[in-house]
Amino acid sequence: MFADLSAEDIDTFADMVQYRTYPKNSFIVNQNDIGSTMYLLVSGRVKVSLASPDGKELALNYLEAPAHFGEMSLVDAEPRSADVIAVTDVELFSLDAKDLSSAIQLNPRLALSLIATLSRRLRHTIARLEDMAFHDATHRVMRVLLNVATASYETRGVPVIQGLTHYDIATLAGTSRETASRIISNLAKEGVVATKGRKIVVDLIKLRERLEGQ
Ligand code: CMP
Repeated sequence: MFADLSAEDIDTFADMVQYRTYPKNSFIVNQNDIGSTMYLLVSGRVKVSLASPDGKELALNYLEAPAHFGEMSLVDAEPRSADVIAVTDVELFSLDAKDLSSAIQLNPRLALSLIATLSRRLRHTIARLEDMAFHDATHRVMRVLLNVATASYETRGVPVIQGLTHYDIATLAGTSRETASRIISNLAKEGVVATKGRKIVVDLIKLRERLEGQ
């Protein structure tokens, strides 16, 4: 996002942001709060999620540094759309609404970069909606496994799911922990995944074939 800022602009930008740390499990943003700050995630991982009044959770997304969040309330002046929770210790820079416009004036490409992120998220949400409307829990759990393992393969070269519990996978797939565990154990029996301690190693080719065969 800031790659093409000059050293001078980076200095100006650095004066606008505040460095903050949040411990694992803390709420950084609360759904429905009024928000006037956006966050640049420098290290760690956060979960964007919704909670129902009866305590159910739907994880919308996990974001890993470098990423940003909390920009929606700044752009549309509506309350926060979701909770954002630190799932590891995190380091952030916070940026106030008034400074976001100054930062965009400093480098108008920032606005395009924000729009690109929002478009990617909308596409991701459309894919989730499609899965919820047209596919069963088995398909949705397999899709979550495929997405997370593919991202791991692209960034780390290994199709491994780590740092996510069966509960986390269930909240991403919109199902119960029990159902997600049953589906993962069936996939393990078929040799599509292998569980090693707290890691799940995914055979991407077999998993893709299973999804396409459905
Ligand atoms: P805001 O509504 O200000 O506060 C919650 C933030 O969560 C929101 O801005 C976005 O930055 C982020 N967010 C909301 N929905 C998603 C999503 N589907 N994927 C990733 N991030 C999201």
